[in-house]
Amino acid sequence: MCGIIARIGGDDDGAVDELLTGLENLEYRGYDSAGLAIKNGGGPEVFKREGKISRLKDVLADETPDGGLGIGHTRWSTHGPPTDANAHPHTDCTGDVAVVHNGIVENYDELKAELRADGHEFESDTDTEVIPHLVEEELAEGADPETAFRRTIERLSGSYAVAMITDREHVVYATRRGSPLVLGVDGGDYFLASDVPAFLDFTDDVVYLDDGDVVVVEPDDYRITTPDGEAVDRTVRTVEWDPEDAGKGGYDHYMLKEIHEQPAALRQTLRGRADPATGDIRLEDFPAGSFADVDRVQFVACGTSYHAGLVGAQFLSDGGVPARTFLASEYATAQPPVDERTLVVGVTQSGETADTLSALRRANASGAATLAVTNVVGSTAARECDDALFIRAGPEIGVAATKTFSSQVVSLALLGERVARDVTGGRSEDARERLEALSELPGHVQQILDYTSARRVAEKYRDAEAYFFIGRGAVRPVALEGALKFKEISYEHAEGFAAGELKHGPLALVTPETPVFAVFTGRNDEKTLGNVKEAQARGAPVVAVASREQEAVAQYADEVLTIPDTHPDVAGVLANVQLQLLSYHAADLLDRAIDKPRNLAKSVTVE
Ligand code: F6R
Repeated sequence: MCGIIARIGGDDDGAVDELLTGLENLEYRGYDSAGLAIKNGGGPEVFKREGKISRLKDVLADETPDGGLGIGHTRWSTHGPPTDANAHPHTDCTGDVAVVHNGIVENYDELKAELRADGHEFESDTDTEVIPHLVEEELAEGADPETAFRRTIERLSGSYAVAMITDREHVVYATRRGSPLVLGVDGGDYFLASDVPAFLDFTDDVVYLDDGDVVVVEPDDYRITTPDGEAVDRTVRTVEWDPEDAGKGGYDHYMLKEIHEQPAALRQTLRGRADPATGDIRLEDFPAGSFADVDRVQFVACGTSYHAGLVGAQFLSDGGVPARTFLASEYATAQPPVDERTLVVGVTQSGETADTLSALRRANASGAATLAVTNVVGSTAARECDDALFIRAGPEIGVAATKTFSSQVVSLALLGERVARDVTGGRSEDARERLEALSELPGHVQQILDYTSARRVAEKYRDAEAYFFIGRGAVRPVALEGALKFKEISYEHAEGFAAGELKHGPLALVTPETPVFAVFTGRNDEKTLGNVKEAQARGAPVVAVASREQEAVAQYADEVLTIPDTHPDVAGVLANVQLQLLSYHAADLLDRAIDKPRNLAKSVTVE
C-alpha cells in the first residue's frame, strides 16, 4: 500500500519533524522501510532505513538536516524485499531528483531496459526508481522540472501517487492516478499525503485531488492542473476527524476499514495480472511453462489462510491437477507423499506463522518445490521458499483476516489457472468467464458494501444460542470461514459444515434458536436447498447468502444477504464479504474488542 508525504514550507527548520510525524501517522499503510528527502538550499538530502520509522528516527537523531521542504515515504513492499536500497525516496544518477511513490509502475521493466541502454545505473529492485531517471533524461534534454515531470508521468502505466523534488527549485511536483493523494493547507505552508491523518496534527483544511491532477506546490502558492496543464479548481474542505481515530480513516475499527478497503485491495491484487479479453495470465516471476514439471500440488496453511487454501485446491482439481490442502499443524502427522514433482504452497498472510513455516521446511527437506503465497514481501516464508507470489492486499491491522482472504483467493485463482495450463497444456473451459468475473470483483464487492443489510440481520439474531454456516463445493470453505470469523470476534458459538454433512450429525444441534446461514453460488443449489429445508423442518431460521437470480432460494429463506450475480467459482468471495460484515456487526452489538479479540494474536509465531 505505502504512504507518501510532502511538506512544503519556507526556509525554516521544521520539515523533518513534521514529515516524521506524518510518516508515523501513515505507518498503518506500510512499515517495511521509511525515508525522507530534505531540501536545504541545494539538492535533496536523502535519509532512509529498512524497518520501522523508529529506525529512521535514530538516524536523524544524529544528523537532523535543516530545511522547510521535503518528501517522505513509508513502504509496503511490492517489488523487492525491504532493504535500505529499496526504501524510498529514490534518486536519479546525479542525486538531484528525488521521488516517492505509492502504487505499481506496470511498464517499469521496459522503461528500465531503455534507461539502462542509455547508461543509467540502478540501485534498487523497485519499479519506482525508473521515475527519477526518466526525469533526469528530460532535464538533460533541456526541459524545465515541471515539463520533465509531466512528460515522465505520461510514460508510466499502472497506478501511482508520486511526489518529486529537484535541486533546481523550492517546489514539490505531485500527481495521482489510481492511488490516493490529498493536499493539506496550513496557511502558506502545505502538505501532500496519501491520507488526511498524515497531517491532521497540523491542519484540518484539505483539498481532495482527482485522478490525473498534477499539483505544483511552493510556499504561499499551489496550482492544480490537468495532465495537459489546464487549470482546475478544487475546493478546500475542513475535516472533522479526531486525530486519535484518524488511522482508522473515520471507521470505528480497523476491521471495518479493512473490509471496506477490499475493492482497492482486489484491484491491486489483480493489476496487470489477468486480461479477460484474451484470457491471458501474467504472474510476474511465473511465465507460461514455469510449472510444467509439477505433478501435484499441496497447500499448507492455518485458520483463514487454510480456508483460502481449500478454495485454491478446488481451483486446481477443477483444472485437472491433483491438489490437496493440509492444516499446516497436521502436515507432519499426515505425511503425504512428496517428491521433486510436488509443489507445496504455503498460504500465509504474515509469512511468519510457525506451523506453516514448519510444514514448508519439512516439504523442502523432502525435495518438494515450495512457493509462498503471502502479503508480506521479505517475510520468512517469502525468503525461505523457492518462490513467492505476493497478494498485494496492503497491511492488515485488525487481528481478524478480511481483505487478505479475498486477495488470497483471487491470487490462488490466478495461480491455479497458471499451474493448470502448464500441467495440462490447455485452458480451463470457462477461463475467460472466470477472469471476467475476477476482474468484476472490486466493483461487485463495492456494491455489497453499499447495500448490505448485515447489521439488521445481526440484530435480528443477536440472542441466538449458536450460529451455523453451511456451503457446498467451492463455498464449503466460505461456510468454515464465516463461522471462524463469527466465533473469533463475537465469542459466540459458531460452526461451519459442508451442507450435505448437516444430516450426518450436526442436525442434532439445530433448533429454533440456531440460525443457519446457507451460502449459494448458482451451482448445485438444489442440493443445498434440500439441506436448508432439513434445518427449517427443525424450526431453524435460515439466512441465505445468494444472488437475486437464485429466486427459489429466496422463497425458502427468512432473510437473504444478497450478492451480485457472478461466476460460481467467484461467488464465494462475495458471499464471504457479507459474512465478514455479519460477524463484524454481531461483535459490535456485543461490544467486543473487535480489532484485538481475546486470546488471539495477528501473527502466531509458536507451534
Ligand atoms: C483469522 C486469522 C487467522 C490467520 C492464521 C494464519 O481471522 O486471521 O486464522 O489466518 O493465524 O495466519 P497467516 O495467514 O498470517 O499465516
